[in-house]
Amino acid sequence: MLGVYVHIPFCEKKCTYCAFSSFADFSQKEKYITSLCDEINAFSRKGECVDTIYFGGGTPSTLEPQEIEKILAAIKNQFNVNSNCEITIECNPNSITREKLVFYKKLGINRLSLGVQSLNDDQLKFAGRLHNAEQAINALRLAKKVGFENVSADLLIGLPGCNYADFEDMLKTLLNEGVKHISTYMLQVEENTKLKKMIDENPELMPDDDNMVEILSKTANFLKKNGFLHYEVSNFALKGYESKHNYKYWSGEEYVGFGLAAHSFLDGKRIANPSDFKDYFDRKNVFSESLTNDQKIEEHIMLGLRCNRGISTRFLKNLGYDIEQNDYFNEFVNKKILIKDGEKIFLAEDYYYVNNFIIVSLLC
Ligand SMILES: C[S@@+](CC[C@H](N)C(=O)[O-])C[C@H]1O[C@@H](n2cnc3c(N)ncnc32)[C@H](O)[C@@H]1O
Ligand code: SF4
Repeated sequence: MLGVYVHIPFCEKKCTYCAFSSFADFSQKEKYITSLCDEINAFSRKGECVDTIYFGGGTPSTLEPQEIEKILAAIKNQFNVNSNCEITIECNPNSITREKLVFYKKLGINRLSLGVQSLNDDQLKFAGRLHNAEQAINALRLAKKVGFENVSADLLIGLPGCNYADFEDMLKTLLNEGVKHISTYMLQVEENTKLKKMIDENPELMPDDDNMVEILSKTANFLKKNGFLHYEVSNFALKGYESKHNYKYWSGEEYVGFGLAAHSFLDGKRIANPSDFKDYFDRKNVFSESLTNDQKIEEHIMLGLRCNRGISTRFLKNLGYDIEQNDYFNEFVNKKILIKDGEKIFLAEDYYYVNNFIIVSLLC
């Protein structure tokens, strides 16, 4: 079944580290929502079954809930939305209210992804967030009160002063608040961000790779002890609470993305909408490419080894690549870096964070 992604490119304030297509300028909001609904209405595969819908951004919770309702109505009009469709909305702790959450529930939204980022006020300030730790915890409690039981929280590893002891305290707090899914992202220093400028001026602020890997690997041990599955490099969930939508990206399933800079994978093609508002409104500069055989092989290996789906020797053979003839492959299997289970191959979890060399060695 198809997954639907909807991009909402608005935020109340741009965070220091963020290079996503998102703007602290709402002047084009109405025009954007109209254009987005038009794009959904014009999608060629009308009536297709959909089992995941994901409102991402930017910050979708900055929209009025009636605007989310309008977009959802366009999706429901165009697609055959499965009765137990996973519907996620990304929210910032400072932009959700009881009224919004109650409205989301009525709309059938059943999963919240909350950008907590940290529970340390100094780090939140450094990151340019508009919330503090208390507001993040209150947002989690509010979500629970309103009846959302499928709540995910994002945390950043690598903000100044980040150490595992503090990070474990944050994880414990999230678990106590009943969070079922946690995404832990190692802070990336992106070009053209305030963070990049700050680091250029103060190089000691540069996140330390070894420290981040150590924190992520200890996080994995801690969360596993607490019943969480480490189902993707940066993602942990209690059983049954894995993100069905994001899993589509990693398992080569089809998805369609609507909105500014949104990506789709349809009919073997990668499609990317423009990241410029004018181009998007004019439907100009939409990038589209059919994957070559080599790209299909590369994607299968790269995506499969970063999550617990693994890769399939049979699938690769059908694409003309006998991976078992690759010398590195056999060396990695002997060293238990790769775990073989019949025709399925998985990357041992200890190597999740240093997988680049392994992946490159396995490409044909
Ligand atoms: C689209 S944003 C999330 C939604 C919401 N706007 C928020 O920030 O809370 C998705 C997630 O990507 C992560 N992210 C954004 N920029 C990042 C960066 N430079 N390095 C690592 N993670 C980043 C953040 O954890 C963020 O929660
Ligand atoms: S991290 Fe989230 S809130 Fe911050 S600028 Fe990026 S999309 Fe907006």
